Amino acid sequence: MSQIFTPVVPVAPSITKVILAITGGIAAYKSALLARLLVKEGFEVRVIMTQGAQQFITPLTLQALTGNEVHTELLDTEAEAGMGHIELAKWADLVLIAPASANTLARLAMGMADDLLATVCLATSAPVMIAPAMNQQMWAHPAVQLNVQTLSDMGYEMIEPDSGVQACGDVGAGRLPEPEILLRRVLNFKAKLMVPQSLTGKKVTITAGPTVEAIDPVRFLSNHSTGKMGFALARACRDAGAEVTLIAGGKVDLTTPLDVQRINVLSANDMLQAASQSAKAGCDIFIATAAVADYRTRDAAPQKIKKTQDEMTLDLVKNPDILATISHTYPDMFVVGFAAETQDVEKYARGKLASKDLDMIACNDVSRKDIGFASDENAMTVFFADKYQQEPEALDKASKDEIARQLVALIGQTI
Ligand code: C5P
Repeated sequence: MSQIFTPVVPVAPSITKVILAITGGIAAYKSALLARLLVKEGFEVRVIMTQGAQQFITPLTLQALTGNEVHTELLDTEAEAGMGHIELAKWADLVLIAPASANTLARLAMGMADDLLATVCLATSAPVMIAPAMNQQMWAHPAVQLNVQTLSDMGYEMIEPDSGVQACGDVGAGRLPEPEILLRRVLNFKAKLMVPQSLTGKKVTITAGPTVEAIDPVRFLSNHSTGKMGFALARACRDAGAEVTLIAGGKVDLTTPLDVQRINVLSANDMLQAASQSAKAGCDIFIATAAVADYRTRDAAPQKIKKTQDEMTLDLVKNPDILATISHTYPDMFVVGFAAETQDVEKYARGKLASKDLDMIACNDVSRKDIGFASDENAMTVFFADKYQQEPEALDKASKDEIARQLVALIGQTI
């Protein structure tokens, strides 16, 4: 290809690896659910437990939930031979201490290094979020409040405890917020830190996954798309401040990202209807990642087709082009298409940009076996409509989350 690519759009490093540190308090039981939610949201989670934490909940529980061995010891030959404390501190993109006991707050405020957790906090360059939880009288104590202030001044991100009835029967401030709230705080913090809020106030509609075209009540035509790229884009758009509607086709089996409105559809016609409704309701950006079936059966059989004949022919008709329909109906909308090509990437990309009236198109080379469809990684070349006078961008092989963030940054720059 003759084109010289401009360097990839710079974005801050992502937060994907989280250390969840649990200290000794009754609220430690909530940390198990928090670990589960973090894993479901796509984070890789390693757990550190203090001696006190292990009195309330076992490392085995957290190991089962995260799929990783739990770290408990600072000076342990075996543990250090596995992932030592410095390696662990370097591994993390974020340290989240939940619940943080009064004792741990004091140790961290003093800069102690008397156990694994305290040492990792000193040795890491990753941001540290702290969710204190304790009895309301302890929380109100000036020594605790002084430590909280010191930690906040040092740059630790403090998460205020909730008020209400406590495990001990007291009523007041000091309860650990519910795991869903803590997850939201982590996601908001991540968004603030890493993604420019370039899509604040924008409404984004994304199509994702395959479509399913019925042949009869039990059989259908479909493809291998999993929806991973579209779901990654939904998360990235949300993190950039957008209000996101995600139209998932076929039988996408992925967790709905937090704060994203998901609409499940089956066929291309259903997807077009959902996309049109979403566009009509008000949409600034339309991103079509769905692998829409090009053809559907003319009429799906009302009953299961019996195998009475040696040969059978399916009568197929062309499906609507969802992307082209939306872009032609709403010329002011910023419209992004995807294309899977095996050769002449630039020629086909430019052809689709023009024929479908797109603002941007992201092409991946489907002849490569190591990326695409079911893979967690992708690589793309992005082309822009002539009016933007923008050179193509090559996004090197990276996780779909990373590619999504780069695409969102490009959209934010172009729109
Ligand atoms: O024409 P082609 O299928 O290569 O175009 C791919 C792009 O168009 C993708 O963004 C895809 O989601 C979208 N598309 C669509 N409706 C179709 C076919 C493709 O929205 N029927």
